[in-house]
Order: sequence, then structure tokens, then C-alpha cells
Amino acid sequence: MLAWSLIHRVNRTITFVILLTVQQAVIPGAVVADEPIVGDQLIKLARESFSSLTPLAAKGQLSVKSAQVELGRQLFFDPRLSADGVWSCMLCHQPSLYGTDAQRLSRGVFDKFLTRNAPTVLNSSLQFKSHWDGKFEGVEDQAAHALLGPGFGNRDIAEGMARIQAIPGYADAFAKAFPADSAPITAANVGSAIGAYERTLLTPARFDEFLDGRADALSASEQQGLHIFIKIECVNCHGEAALGGQRYEKFGKVSYYWKETHSKVIDKGRYELTRKDEDLYLFKIASLRNVAMTPPYFHDGSVTSLPDAVRIMARVQLGEELSDDQNSAICAFLKSLTGTLPANFVEAPKLPPGAFLPVDESQK
Ligand code: HEC
Ligand code: HEC
Repeated sequence: MLAWSLIHRVNRTITFVILLTVQQAVIPGAVVADEPIVGDQLIKLARESFSSLTPLAAKGQLSVKSAQVELGRQLFFDPRLSADGVWSCMLCHQPSLYGTDAQRLSRGVFDKFLTRNAPTVLNSSLQFKSHWDGKFEGVEDQAAHALLGPGFGNRDIAEGMARIQAIPGYADAFAKAFPADSAPITAANVGSAIGAYERTLLTPARFDEFLDGRADALSASEQQGLHIFIKIECVNCHGEAALGGQRYEKFGKVSYYWKETHSKVIDKGRYELTRKDEDLYLFKIASLRNVAMTPPYFHDGSVTSLPDAVRIMARVQLGEELSDDQNSAICAFLKSLTGTLPANFVEAPKLPPGAFLPVDESQK
């Protein structure tokens, strides 16, 4: 009996020891799962949520020399399309500022302020709609209407088109770009040409090299930031090729955004356009391409530094409080999204000569 009970006890001890060993084997396993994912493993994980700009940019380059793209580029840089002859698309979307104007709110024709911050035109053709509230269907639609907006101040389409017609060289350029049209100087064609140009303004970055399979394209801290960005679910909104721009989301899902941004005016987002309750505080998810180069941040430019914008996002969208280390890792990752500026954006085009139409005093 004694022998039996001894064996039994030894048995139990062995079982206990085995159990302990198994548990110990499981615990280090759990630690491993929480360790940062890096290198090829991280590339694989990132490919589930993002796509590389490399193939899209290569495709865009094929049309750079086309008559439509070149015309769009000229129109983009031409101040003579605005009611005061000063403003152009380029002035609010400057190449040297990565397609923005660095202002909180843009200033338009006759120095009047617009209600929102100018997002970059770089990569904006990848987004599902244009403008913070998705007012326009895409870059063509946006450009076709821009000459009438507060940036350009033309009273109607006819006035906008008259400004183009007043510059003789454009007749030829429009005829070459739209050979099937007998009267090609139209708002729709202005939209198509500028849109075609904007579709070439893609900026592949080191992050794309990483997605393409070059693990050493990102430093250790950039990889750490990317992993955090995925893990805490920034990626749920900022994914795909543009890291955003694919749908609307409420700005302030967890808490009111203006308590953090200290916005002077509470912008109701898409609601201002539709007046539907379900659109209250809905904004298009911002694209994060080149974000380190395009302060100030948010629809009203209320936040000037990237770490502040990141901290606010984590708080109001996810209810997360980031440590300083996490925040700087995310910012390091976001900087890897700064791409190369396209040559046909950096270099100003030669515009057809022509004097600006006199300003109509009644518009002042
Ligand atoms: C006075 C400054 C100004 C001028 C001039 C201007 N823009 Fe903008 N642009 C803005 C602002 C501000 C917004 C954001 C408007 C909003 O969302 O309410 C914007 C938005 C856009 C967007 C949408 C970007 C996105 O991420 O949603 C595109 C594309 C764009 N502009 C292209 C152009 C083109 C093309 C022209 C010339 C035809 C032009 N802009 C002229 C200030 C300007
Ligand atoms: C639920 C969706 C959602 C989540 C999650 C989210 N964002 Fe955003 N993000 C948005 C929206 C919408 C905007 C535009 C807000 C505005 O200005 O109206 C935005 C804007 C931004 C901007 C400013 C971009 C600019 O050009 O002004 C940054 C930076 C940013 N997000 C980073 C992050 C980071 C980092 C995380 C994770 C900590 C994150 N976001 C999580 C939806 C989201």
C-alpha cells in the first residue's frame, strides 16, 4: 500500500512537473507573440492592409507626355483663370510645400479666406471622393467646378471659359488634347485635363519599397511604428494605397474632436453638405501619404505638429493613450511615407503668352 501511494504521489509530482513545464512553455510563447513583428513577417502583415504605389506610379508615368496631361499641367499653374489674375491651383497646392499652402485655412481670390484647410493634390486621385466632405466625385469633377469656387471667383462657367479663350495659345492646346470636340474649351474638358494631370501626381516612397519586398527600406523604429499603427488599428481607417481616402468616418468617434484640436469653429463635416443627422461630424478619412510634409493638420488646420495630430487621433478615434515612444515610432513610420516629388510638378510649365483680362470692379 505504502509503495502504491508512493508511486501515486511520485506520479502526481511528475504530472505536476509536466504541467508546470507545459505552462512554462506556453508563457514564453505568449511573450513571443507580443514581440515586435519585423522584416519579412511585417511585410506580409502590411500587405494585408496596404498596397504599393510602385505599379500605379509607373502606369501614371506612361501618360505624362500626353497632350491632355500637359494641358492640365498648364491650367494648374495658370493664375489668369482667376477673377483677380493672382490665384491658381498651384498657389494653394504648391510643389515646394508638397501640394499644400501651409495655411490653416486657405486664402482665395480677393484675399477672402476659405472655410477649410487645403489638402495636398499629390496622390489625391487615389481617393474615393474629393474634398474633406466628399463634395466632389473625384479629381475631374473637382477641377471642373474649381473655377467657380472661392479660389477662383468666376461668376459663371462662361466667365471662366472666357478667361481661357482670352489667351490665344490655349485654342491649340485644347484642340490637340480633345481632337474629337469642335468647341473643346468647356468646363468638362478643363476638368478632364486637370484631372488627367493630377492622376500623374503619385509619389512612391520608402514605404512602397518595403511593401515591394525590401525589408531594409525601413529602419527599426519605422518598422516598429508601422507595427504599432497596424496593432492599435489606425490601419482600419488609414489603409490601402493612399493610407486613407476610401470612406467617411466620424472625426471624434470616442470623444469630441474640438476638445483636443481647440478648433475655433465646430465644423459639422458632411452634415454641412447633406443636413442628414447620420452625416454629423463625418469627414473623409485623410490620406496619410506625405503627411510629415503637409502641416497644419485636420480639416481646419487646427493642429500644427505631427506628434500632436497622432496623439489626438489615438485619443478621439480609438480611445488610446500613446506613450511617447509609441508616438515617436508612429511618426517615424509616417515620415517613411514622404515620397519623391514628380518632375512634372516641381518644374513649372511654359504657359501660352497673353495678358490677363481686366478685373471686373463689381466683384470686389
Ligand atoms: C484658394 C486656394 C485654393 C485654390 C486656388 C485651389 N484649391 Fe484645391 N483645395 C483648396 C481647399 C481649401 C480644399 C479643401 C476644400 C474642402 O474640402 O472644403 C481643396 C481641395 C482640393 C482637392 C481635394 C483634395 C482631397 O484630398 O480631397 C483637389 C483635388 C484640389 N483641391 C485641386 C485643385 C485644383 C485642380 C485647383 C485649380 C483648378 C485648385 N484645387 C485650386 C484650396 C484651393
Ligand atoms: C475611425 C477612423 C480613424 C482611425 C481609427 C484613425 N483615423 Fe486618422 N483620420 C481619420 C479621419 C476621418 C481624419 C480626418 C479628420 C479631419 O480633419 O476632419 C483623420 C486624420 C488623420 C491625420 C491628419 C491628416 C491631415 O493631413 O490632416 C493623421 C496624422 C491621422 N489621421 C493619423 C492617424 C493615426 C496615427 C491613427 C492611429 C493612432 C489614426 N489616424 C486613426 C480617421 C481615423
